[in-house]
Amino acid sequence: MPIDTSTSDARVVFTPSGKRGHFPIGTPILQAAQALGVDVDSVCGGRGLCGRCQVEHATGKFPKHYINSKAENISPISETEKAYAAKPKKTLLDGRRLSCATQILGDCVIDIPPDSQVHQQIVRKEADAFDIEIIPPVQLHYVEVWEPNMHDPSGDLRRLREALEREWHLTNLRFGPGMLLSLQKELREGNWKVTVAVDYLGQVIAVNPGFKESLCGLAVDIGSTTVAAHLCNLRTGEVLASAGMMNPQIRFGEDLMSRVSYVMMHPDGDVEMTKVIRETINELAAKVTAEAHRKLDEIVEVTFVGNPIMHHLLLGINPIELGGAPFALATDESVRIRARDLKLNLHNNTRCYVLPCIAGHVGADTAGMILSEAPYKREAITLLVDIGTNAEIVLGNKERLLAASSPTGPAFEGAQITCGQRAAPGAIERVRIDKKTLEPKFKVIGCELWSDENEFSEQTKKTGITGICGSGIIEAIAEMFLAGIITQDGVINGSIAKKSERIIKEGRTYSYILYDGEQKVHISQNDVRAIQLAKAALYAGTRLLMERLDIESVDRIRLAGAFGNHIEPKYAMILGLIPDCNLKQVSSAGNAAGTGARIALLNHESRNEIEEVVRQVEKVETAVESNFQQHFVNAMAFPNKIEKFPNLAKEVELPTENMGINTIEIAAHATKRRRRKKVNH
Ligand code: FES
Repeated sequence: MPIDTSTSDARVVFTPSGKRGHFPIGTPILQAAQALGVDVDSVCGGRGLCGRCQVEHATGKFPKHYINSKAENISPISETEKAYAAKPKKTLLDGRRLSCATQILGDCVIDIPPDSQVHQQIVRKEADAFDIEIIPPVQLHYVEVWEPNMHDPSGDLRRLREALEREWHLTNLRFGPGMLLSLQKELREGNWKVTVAVDYLGQVIAVNPGFKESLCGLAVDIGSTTVAAHLCNLRTGEVLASAGMMNPQIRFGEDLMSRVSYVMMHPDGDVEMTKVIRETINELAAKVTAEAHRKLDEIVEVTFVGNPIMHHLLLGINPIELGGAPFALATDESVRIRARDLKLNLHNNTRCYVLPCIAGHVGADTAGMILSEAPYKREAITLLVDIGTNAEIVLGNKERLLAASSPTGPAFEGAQITCGQRAAPGAIERVRIDKKTLEPKFKVIGCELWSDENEFSEQTKKTGITGICGSGIIEAIAEMFLAGIITQDGVINGSIAKKSERIIKEGRTYSYILYDGEQKVHISQNDVRAIQLAKAALYAGTRLLMERLDIESVDRIRLAGAFGNHIEPKYAMILGLIPDCNLKQVSSAGNAAGTGARIALLNHESRNEIEEVVRQVEKVETAVESNFQQHFVNAMAFPNKIEKFPNLAKEVELPTENMGINTIEIAAHATKRRRRKKVNH
């Protein structure tokens, strides 16, 4: 018997939102959801094309809602749904219905699965990190535009506007003049059916002939050594493909300051470096789109993070002012710019968003790290450290946030270390030293076994044992300290040379042989000094921020970046890279800067959020702080000359001895390091 749709009403509850209402029998579920403001996606406007509006009908009695949600309380599978499910690569999972093609026939409870919601959450794998909420910067709207005829002389653009208002209630959209050049072609090519991409500011980005399913965005992290790009589905947040390349600017200078020097010595040096970095981004975009079987013009949004010099060079700004005090940025605001103005071969209207820099040495990469880790949302005092040739340090909580950078130099990356190398197969990355025999065992990248296990030689034959990487050197020196090979002030103790053949004299100092094979891997006194200088710079920076915040300890520590990802917190603490903290509260934050770029890409509201936070971050210039030197001197010792490490002492038996540190020598180092490398004009 046909249902009388004129008089009856049905009670409908949507989960998980709990939104509820009464609707006339026969109302499409999608319409009811939209009327209540339930978060359910749709691109095709209820035409059964996109499949985004899928819902599940929860059957049974729901006393809480006073609803008996019977199977027959929604309409049976429709022809539209059958047609949708019959399309290649389309499926309607068991129990799923297209809400646009299903009517309400009685009281019902309807569940909106996460993948049908516009504002989805991406659950992050790293423990202790907030999930990413997706609020897409660009959305697609499929419309059918009325064809022109002799009786209606209105232009194509007006009829497109009318369709967007009629079907999507979108008004006052802005179409750039460039859009008009191709609009007529696109409308006719799509036979008057087009999918319009509109950004969150009401700007039309693209008009695509026919029905278009999804759009992509690119999150780019420009490091001084490597450049990484992640192609993401703007709706689901899924990373479709990732690629990385060496930063080609390396040929102009290994580190940042030598690149600025290059610009000073070569007129147009900045133009060259801008050109090569943009070419690299184009190459990466081509690579990731090819891998994901997408087209370059499907990328409609790009976000960038990078240190201040990379930031300036990307934008074509001469970075010369960043080469010397007072290290003035051209801008510390975020930058919105069209991709074509950056000479990127993407869609003509693709927008780029560059996260804001914080200070002359604290860039958009740190802003990305702050966005990713969100210390400003927590009560706990968080210390964030991104360790590279410069360490970026952020400290604080929801009340107050401070940031600084400290010139650690390249020692943590294996440079300036006698047998140091980048983290690559064959590099020693883990070290343990027996306290009695002083015999080491180690692990190399590319092999799961320890060096004292059977099969180790066999399994490392291919890679060999080629050197020691950053995390390896940290563990080696920490273990040498724990075993008494190194004193608290960092001297390799020659007096125990008779105890082990591994401690050998080299001129006036001693070295420790870690591996004596085809390639000898040893730790020299200079290596220990290089690490001491680097870690003291990092610790002194952290300590200054703690002083500013008037705190003696931090609640949690997150180590970001490639190096932070690899070092074991315990060893970082034994050496005194980081302050004492409950070890359970020290963890890796992964590539936090890159994650920040991805969050800014997928959640446009996060852009305002980080802009606001960055404005409030207090910048501390370590080079001009009078206490830096004293903190630096104290931090030369392992783990520190004066500061206590009670949490660490609970986990590790720290050697006790009198300090024999040559404070005059160290103070001289400190003064030298505090003067940032001055670049000559
Ligand atoms: Fe597109 Fe339902 S809204 S299939």
